This record gives sequence, structure tokens and C-alpha cells, in this order.
Amino acid sequence: MAGKAIRKRQKETSNDQENLSTLSFLETELCGFKIHSPTMLASGVLGISFDLFPRIIESGCGVIVSKSIGLEPREGYGNPTMTGVEAGYLNAIGLANPGSEEFARELEEEFSKKPVPLIVSIFADSAEHFADLVKRFDRFNFLAYELNLSCPHVKDVGSEIGSEPADAAEVVKVSRSATGKPIFAKMPATIINVPEWAKAVESAGADAIVAINTIRAMKIDLESKKPVLSNKIGGLSGPAIKPVAVRSVYEIYETVKIPIVGVGGIVSGEDAVEFFLAGASAVEIGSAIGQDYLDSFERVNTGVMKYLKRNSYSNVKEIVGLAHY
Ligand SMILES: Cc1cc2nc3c(=O)[nH]c(=O)nc-3n(C[C@H](O)[C@H](O)[C@H](O)COP(=O)(O)O)c2cc1C
Repeated sequence: MAGKAIRKRQKETSNDQENLSTLSFLETELCGFKIHSPTMLASGVLGISFDLFPRIIESGCGVIVSKSIGLEPREGYGNPTMTGVEAGYLNAIGLANPGSEEFARELEEEFSKKPVPLIVSIFADSAEHFADLVKRFDRFNFLAYELNLSCPHVKDVGSEIGSEPADAAEVVKVSRSATGKPIFAKMPATIINVPEWAKAVESAGADAIVAINTIRAMKIDLESKKPVLSNKIGGLSGPAIKPVAVRSVYEIYETVKIPIVGVGGIVSGEDAVEFFLAGASAVEIGSAIGQDYLDSFERVNTGVMKYLKRNSYSNVKEIVGLAHY
């Protein structure tokens, strides 16, 4: 009983106490805003179709994170851009997106008419360009920004802009000064010193940390003897990366006070519970959507509620960080 059923029940004015208490299992807060479920849509996996957004929320998703938007439109890489691997997927989409002008138009014309709980993900090749994006979108009434810090850094070609704590902190600081909205810093997957990184972005003014993005990986086709993806290297996602993501959340929780959003390989309620126990206040679902589409939110929410009931908890907030005590 989750997803569509939850939303339907939220609309009902029933006095049924059991229904109300079931709903309250998943209600939580993130950076000052209330959300009806702690499962969010991860950036990138469903593109940015504003028509679809209300249905995603109806299915049990608490917050939608948009695909990462850059200043200029980008077509991305040629096919193949995605392939299956052991326990996950490899993708190299190449940050394909319509660009900031078109996205601002869609926010104006579509989102403003049918608002949903939305976080806008942005990427850029320098701190100043991140701030330019923030200034361009800030007049719209969405919840927060998610900074995709895993995109290439032009000054240092090849490395990700957020892989060094000082660089990530600079992006957060400059973006922070351009907005009053909460800023979620999304951590690249392969940070060597996670506590140092987390402290740096917290001190720079981040309101939350999202962990993790995909992990650089490759698949080679035995017949052609060549990498399968057109970009050769792609990002690994799905269950294969879950233990890396859980470890990252655990380390971040030990270091900072700001909330953490866990992402990486979540398919079931049990997966999400692992992230909550590690210290996540909410989770994002990515690759599982590609397989089971919107059923993923219902499945994960139902699994989390069953776990809470079985263990006599009345709200998901009660289990955040329990693996540390
Ligand atoms: C097809 C695809 C596109 C993605 N695009 C983005 C993106 O635009 N911005 C971003 O920050 N992360 C992007 N990601 C990473 C996801 O948001 C997420 O961090 C990662 O896939 C791990 O979660 P998962 O195992 O549930 O998929 C993308 C992932 C996939 C599979």
C-alpha cells in the first residue's frame, strides 16, 4: 500500500486512524520542506518531461530531481549510450540537455502552471558558470538546486569539477551567494577522502549532500574487440554500486550535520532502509526506474513501511543513522 494508493488516501477525508498512521510512516522533512515520501527521482533517468512529473509524484515519489541542465544545449554522445553489465548499467549520455534558455521557458510555461516538488540539477565547467545558471533559474518556485559536481572541469580536462574538496567548495560557495534556495551538493563517486570533501562543502554553505553519482567503468565487446559505448568510458549505476554508496553515506554522516540523500543501486525497500540506517534522510532512485518504471517508488515505499512496522517504528526519521549507535 504505497505510491498511488498513498496519494489517493492523502486526498481522502477519512477518519480511519490506521490509514492516517500508515501515511505518516513515510512523511519527512528535507532542508525545511515537508515531503510525503523519502524516495526521490534521481537526476537524468527520466529526462525532463514536465507532462510526466505529476504522474511520477502520484506514483509515490516525494521529490523529482531534473536532468542536469547546462548553460548551452548539448546533444550528447552518439549511440550506443547505454548497456547492461553485471548487476547494473553503463551509461555515457554526455550530459545531453536542452540548455538553460529552453529549460527556463519550460519552467515558465509548464512548471509554473502545474508545480510539483522539484529540485533542479545543474552542471557547468566552472564555479562562475554554476552561479550563472542559478541566477537564470532563481525566480521560479522550485525547492532547491542539486549541483552535479561530476562533470568535466575545463581548467583541468579529464578530472571532474567536484573531485577536489577545494574545487567543490568553490562551486558551492559561488552558487550559495547567488541564491537563497537550498543547495544540494552531489558527490562524485570516487572521492578519496570523503570526510574532507563533506566538511569542505558543508563549510562552503551546502544545505545537503547527495551521494553518489555513477562510477567510471567500461565494457568491451568480444567480437568487435572494442568498448561497447561510443564514448568508450561510461558511468556504472545500479545494484553494483550500492555498497560504495552506502559506505559513502555512512562516512558523510560521521562527519557533517547537514542532511544526506543516498543514491546508488536502490531497487527494494530493504535497499532504501540500508541507506537510512547509514545516515540518509531521503534516497533517490535511478536505474531501477529504467527497469520497472514508476512501480519502483511504490515497491520501495511499501518495503520501507513494512520494515518500519515490523520493527515497531512509526516514522522513517526514527531509523536515520541507527547503524552508528
Ligand atoms: C541514464 C542515466 C542518466 C543520468 N544522468 C544524470 C544527470 O544528468 N545528472 C546527474 O547528476 N546524475 C545523472 N545520473 C546518475 C544518477 O542520478 C544516479 O546518481 C546514479 O545512476 C546512481 O543511482 P542508481 O544506481 O539508482 O541509478 C544518470 C544516471 C543514468 C543511469
